[in-house]
Amino acid sequence: MVPYFPHMETQHTLEVPRLSWQGIFDSAGTPRAAGAIAFGEALCGIGFAVISGAPFRQDLLDTNYALMQEVFALGVDRLKDTCSHPEIGFQRGYMPTRTEVGIRCGGEPDDKEVMAFGSYHNVEVPDVPHYLQAAEAYYSACQDVGYSLMHALAVYLDPEGNEHDYLLELFRRADGTRIDDSHMRHIRYPSSAKRMACEHTDSNMLSLLPAARGKGLEVRSTTGEWIAVETEPGDLVVNAGDMLNFISGGRILSTLHRVENRFQQSEGFRHSMPFFFHPDHRQELHILQSCMLEPADRRMFAHERITGYHLLYELLRLYQVIPDDLPVDQWEASMEHLKQHGF
Ligand SMILES: [Fe+2]
Repeated sequence: MVPYFPHMETQHTLEVPRLSWQGIFDSAGTPRAAGAIAFGEALCGIGFAVISGAPFRQDLLDTNYALMQEVFALGVDRLKDTCSHPEIGFQRGYMPTRTEVGIRCGGEPDDKEVMAFGSYHNVEVPDVPHYLQAAEAYYSACQDVGYSLMHALAVYLDPEGNEHDYLLELFRRADGTRIDDSHMRHIRYPSSAKRMACEHTDSNMLSLLPAARGKGLEVRSTTGEWIAVETEPGDLVVNAGDMLNFISGGRILSTLHRVENRFQQSEGFRHSMPFFFHPDHRQELHILQSCMLEPADRRMFAHERITGYHLLYELLRLYQVIPDDLPVDQWEASMEHLKQHGF
């Protein structure tokens, strides 16, 4: 069963809260107490927030959107020949449309093409010079924004600060070295799509989505209504993933969301570039001491502590990404091999 909290009726949030980066952080980048609370409460109420003024360079976003369109315009055959890796589950490079199946949508695959990136061993697209460089620069900016937002959540979830270091060192060592196992996607959805992305929760800690080029993102409220996530250019949509629900003892919601076809005409594409902020999966995840008394009915997992790999393994089996007969240790070993040696 994939939980989505249909029984929750204590909070009725019908809009995704809008916040400003400057309200959450001071000019030195330190979370403001009131801003951290506003951000945390948005994620507790509906699991989503729209933030204006996040520190992304607009030219970097524009370049990524422009180059992704050049890449997808090469066509499925050329992309399959030059930069597609089904042998690693399309975790890097090009994934053709109708590959991912939404388990909540009757087995129908999503109508979307993807270029996928991670923290290591990314692939070039030989026909589009500078594409990888631009994508990696955007990825790096997302790592910084995600880390700042995790800092704000640490302040919110653990006001006494006992476990801030633990939480932040899931992503960076104390010396600042990045160790996150994040994932970024450039996605193109055709206006002819029957369905763009089936409803799902995100498995990671925190997802970042700079305003997409096209409507269609919707989030399911705690009362079961689908709410359109409205954005202006320059906005950043942030949502909590399943791992954040776990470490917050269920306090923060990882809510269902989907992408629907909202095109008025049958030509053109929707483009987006979500970033999924994952910790270093080798580290242990546990419910923060400050969240141990949260009501258990908001928790998606029965565990109190588990490694990131084991939690992700459970999630990926739930979503039928990992075969039933693959043992967790073997899966973890193959992921570590990929990290160390490439593919
Ligand atoms: Fe998602």
